[in-house]
Amino acid sequence: MTHRILILGGTTEARQLAGTLAARDDCLVTLSLAGRTESPVAQGVPVRSGGFGGADGLAAYLGETGTDLLIDATHPYAARISANAAQAARMAGVPILALRRPGWEPVEGDRWTLVDTVDHAVQALGAAPRRVFLALGRQEVGAFDAAPQHHYLIRSVDPVEPRLAVPDATYLLARGPFREDDERALLEKHRIEFVVSKNSGGAATYGKIAAARALGVDVVMVQRPDLPDVPSAETVEVLAALVDQFGIDHFVGPAAERGV
Ligand SMILES: NC(=O)c1ccc[n+]([C@@H]2O[C@H](COP(=O)([O-])OP(=O)(O)OC[C@H]3O[C@@H](n4cnc5c(N)ncnc54)[C@H](OP(=O)(O)O)[C@@H]3O)[C@@H](O)[C@H]2O)c1
Repeated sequence: MTHRILILGGTTEARQLAGTLAARDDCLVTLSLAGRTESPVAQGVPVRSGGFGGADGLAAYLGETGTDLLIDATHPYAARISANAAQAARMAGVPILALRRPGWEPVEGDRWTLVDTVDHAVQALGAAPRRVFLALGRQEVGAFDAAPQHHYLIRSVDPVEPRLAVPDATYLLARGPFREDDERALLEKHRIEFVVSKNSGGAATYGKIAAARALGVDVVMVQRPDLPDVPSAETVEVLAALVDQFGIDHFVGPAAERGV
């Protein structure tokens, strides 16, 4: 029997998970992207792109496509789609699993200020002019218009449009992973005093955090949003094993039904 699996993606792990599951004979995998990135990296499995139209739209999609399992492998800061996914799964009666990569923990030498929102990150920079590296998405950097006294180095995958309404900003286009050595050179070259970051977790973007620690640079860390409570795993391997377990319990039938 073939199982139809929809993976909500937009992360490296989602792509890896899709590849792992698609390699199995009994899984038909579709990867869903929000469609924001202008030239997303090749995903290696069938992809659909763009929003569903809220939880209702996603629930309808799950029904129409006969999806057997929904996997939320979106970025930890993509809170709306994760909430929609949990709600849509309930509405459509489709089981859901989530891939939730653990956040980074501060270690000896880190100089982190924890804030709840990007607006609070703006305030945490203080009144005096500083040299600030914004390692945030292009949708979030607009909040820094409120503090035009700072110099900003802004790195994003796609161009920031419109540009910030501040007099002193440098824009960099780049896609991770980023190595610690390169991040250190970047912070030094631009004489950065503050890094503003999300707690994304994972290795691909940790380089700037390690580099900031090595250089004694302050980090303003925007904390993670609340996410719905659904069965989850921290790594691709563990989630793939959960899908196996799930397959035995749900696709073949619960243990009791199988007489074991
Ligand atoms: N936020 C981040 O820091 C970040 C970082 C790296 C990658 N990403 C990825 O970028 C995408 C957008 O992130 P976001 O923070 O803007 O999301 P969000 O605020 O949670 O979601 C906003 C809307 O975008 C649509 N959407 C989001 N992810 C989708 C997906 N995988 N497939 C189809 N539609 C999706 C949904 O539209 P409808 O309501 O119309 O369905 C959702 O309501 C996600 O796929 C996420 O994994 C986000």
